[in-house]
Amino acid sequence: MSDAEMRQNLERARREGLEAIDAATDMASLEDARIKVLGRKAPLSRARSGLRDVPEEQRRELGRVANDVTAEINRAIAAKEKTFMATETAERWEREAIDVTLPGEAPPIATVHPLTKTIWDIVDVFVGLGYRVAEGPEVELSTYIFDALNMPPSHPARSSQATFFIKSSGEEVLLRSETSPVQIRTMESQEPPVYVVCPGRVYRRDTQDATHLSGFMQIEGLAVDEGVTMADLKGSLEHFAREIFGRSLEVRLRPHFFPFTEPSAELDVLCFKCRGSGCRMCKQEGWIEVLGCGMVDPHLLEWVGYDPARYSGFAFGMGVERICMLAHGVSDIRMLWDNDVRVLDQFKGGAT
Ligand code: DAH
Repeated sequence: MSDAEMRQNLERARREGLEAIDAATDMASLEDARIKVLGRKAPLSRARSGLRDVPEEQRRELGRVANDVTAEINRAIAAKEKTFMATETAERWEREAIDVTLPGEAPPIATVHPLTKTIWDIVDVFVGLGYRVAEGPEVELSTYIFDALNMPPSHPARSSQATFFIKSSGEEVLLRSETSPVQIRTMESQEPPVYVVCPGRVYRRDTQDATHLSGFMQIEGLAVDEGVTMADLKGSLEHFAREIFGRSLEVRLRPHFFPFTEPSAELDVLCFKCRGSGCRMCKQEGWIEVLGCGMVDPHLLEWVGYDPARYSGFAFGMGVERICMLAHGVSDIRMLWDNDVRVLDQFKGGAT
């Protein structure tokens, strides 16, 4: 190959090489161009290998030209790379930019279930009076549900439609229909004085409607000590009712019957909506029934081995759903168990 041809080849390699690099539009195509222009089979490399056959005197000069071309091409690649890198960084910054001034997405915050909240609030009132929390089994023996609570085998409540029987041969096993058996279990397990509240689930064979469920919550209370009187019962329950329903509310005790208390009563509060004049809330009564209560029947004390001549006590039991519904104006008990988040959300942050 003549010197002139050699120079021409190198010049073409330079021109075409620079063109190819210039045509690259991104890092990937630049890399393709680099291989095409500087790779082993590229015209430039071929021209360089051709230098071997060039006579000594011209080889030096042509070698310098070849080096210049290579260097120029490398510079062009580096320059191009730099611009691509700058655009890519700018694009990535654009893509990944975070506007820290945008308001965040608030995660939905759950709330304590209204029934749980009601239990906490009621228990708090009694804990403030020195009571502790006691619990008992939901599956209970008839001894604790009936016999110990003054309902002998002939008592109508025993065969009542209201109780779920789990085992009716031999010793009967039932789902408890009230939390009152916890009174007996607590007294059996300790000596007086006893001051306990017992929250828990109870079960009844009731058809569900706006005021009935087959499973619901109760809170039982029991105070046994020396010299406990009906005045203590009234004072304690009045304090409870005012803490839950309103400080200035009047309460009254209405005579009633329960097998395990003597005398027995129901506690009413003056309707906190109409203050006694009669409205839908109190069914025109002016008063709202809140719970059942009474002086512990001495038979119960005897049953657990307490001396009824020395100790006396009062007890009470209330439906948690009922208290919750009254406090919040909920008209259908099922709303408290459906757990529709739209309903539950409405109880957020409120007191009982
Ligand atoms: N166990 C009763 C019920 O379920 C409520 C009750 C009334 C409990 C009077 C008591 C009480 O401890 O003394 O209706």
